[in-house]
Amino acid sequence: MLPQEIIKAKRDGQALAAADIASFMTALADGSLSEGQAAAFAMAVWFNGMDRDETVALTLAMRDSGDVMAWPDLDRPVADKHSTGGVGDNVSLMLAPIVAACGAAVPMISGRGLGHTGGTLDKLESIPGYDILPSAARFQAIVREVGCAIIGQTGEIAPADKRLYAIRDVTATVDSVPLITASILSKKLSAGLGSLIMDVKVGNGAFMQTIDEARTLARSIVDVAGGAGVRTSALITDMNQPLADCAGNALEVASAMEFLDGGKAGTRLERIVMTFAAHMLVNSGICASLADAEVLAHEARASGAALDLFGRMVRALGGPSDFSTNWKKHLPVAPVVRPILAEQDGHIAAYTTREVGLAVIALGGGRLHPDDAIDHRSGFDAILPIGTKVARGEPIAFVHAADEASAERCARRYVSTVTISEEAPPVSPVILETVS
Ligand code: URA
Repeated sequence: MLPQEIIKAKRDGQALAAADIASFMTALADGSLSEGQAAAFAMAVWFNGMDRDETVALTLAMRDSGDVMAWPDLDRPVADKHSTGGVGDNVSLMLAPIVAACGAAVPMISGRGLGHTGGTLDKLESIPGYDILPSAARFQAIVREVGCAIIGQTGEIAPADKRLYAIRDVTATVDSVPLITASILSKKLSAGLGSLIMDVKVGNGAFMQTIDEARTLARSIVDVAGGAGVRTSALITDMNQPLADCAGNALEVASAMEFLDGGKAGTRLERIVMTFAAHMLVNSGICASLADAEVLAHEARASGAALDLFGRMVRALGGPSDFSTNWKKHLPVAPVVRPILAEQDGHIAAYTTREVGLAVIALGGGRLHPDDAIDHRSGFDAILPIGTKVARGEPIAFVHAADEASAERCARRYVSTVTISEEAPPVSPVILETVS
């Protein structure tokens, strides 16, 4: 079918054949399709949706528009995780080495910050020398040798998605469940995964604001990935407060290193990391039960194996050779660090979490435009979880800034994101639902 006929069929609400979706994606990737045609296609999908078979076909066509990795002779299962994005969500930095230390191979293709959310790649670029775009051959060699590698989407990975995503971004067609599903999965599945776990975040710091929206996306991703032959489950998790006790690139790497060194015990972050690790180990067949898998994941941290593995990944990707032991020496530090003080007695009752992410961007820790350089040093740390009792004048966080003026401005902004109440608030669970 001609591209305009394919657009017309979707505009008129018809289901598209897999062959037509594939030819449209080939033309998108090789540049023979115009930007207008791609935008019209995206808008037709936005209005009329796609059923499961169409979304599977779109996912596979976008995946196959670029390189698809294979792992012949690898003696370990290949597993990965993806998050829809949040604030203080540094889970991948700990999860990949823990699961790799337990026997899986984790070839993780991650993204940059999107909107108010942080991006794993921006965090990793806080590490001097870390190469987020190695060749596919080097990426695969590191995964084989070390066990995990976290890198970005190169031009060879799902180029049809790369082009369509850029067009969706400027044509109000990002928020379509089939387009989001295919976009996320096309990149993830190009790494040749055997299994995948999705973290679908919901709440005032997530893209999905309601549990129904989160369920719809989780169901779509699980069904479509299954249709594409990859065993996938999704956990819907709470994003009504920053997940880690910090938000900002180098600060989140520091938090991950402390975690891998045995810190952050008993936190919501620990619950998420260990639960996701357990699901990955069960989905990939390494463990028979979630309980056994969690024990194994805890051992990988307690023994130092996961920390050591993170250090070897950093070294293999061009970072400092002593990062796992000397990370404090290597991470950049902001020149101005100031406490942010509670303005009343009470309990931390709520965050407007999206605003915390936007305050990090205002400090320079995220981008307003795609080409902006970012200040990896800036952000907030010592963030208190909801439910913490505080007294007036006590620190509720610290701001890390490039100068006094932005520290002052963003500290005030941070204060406006926090509600302190007299009564202790109910504390919601961090893991809300499992979709499998
Ligand atoms: N992340 C992606 O990779 N694609 C989308 O469409 C949305 C979020």
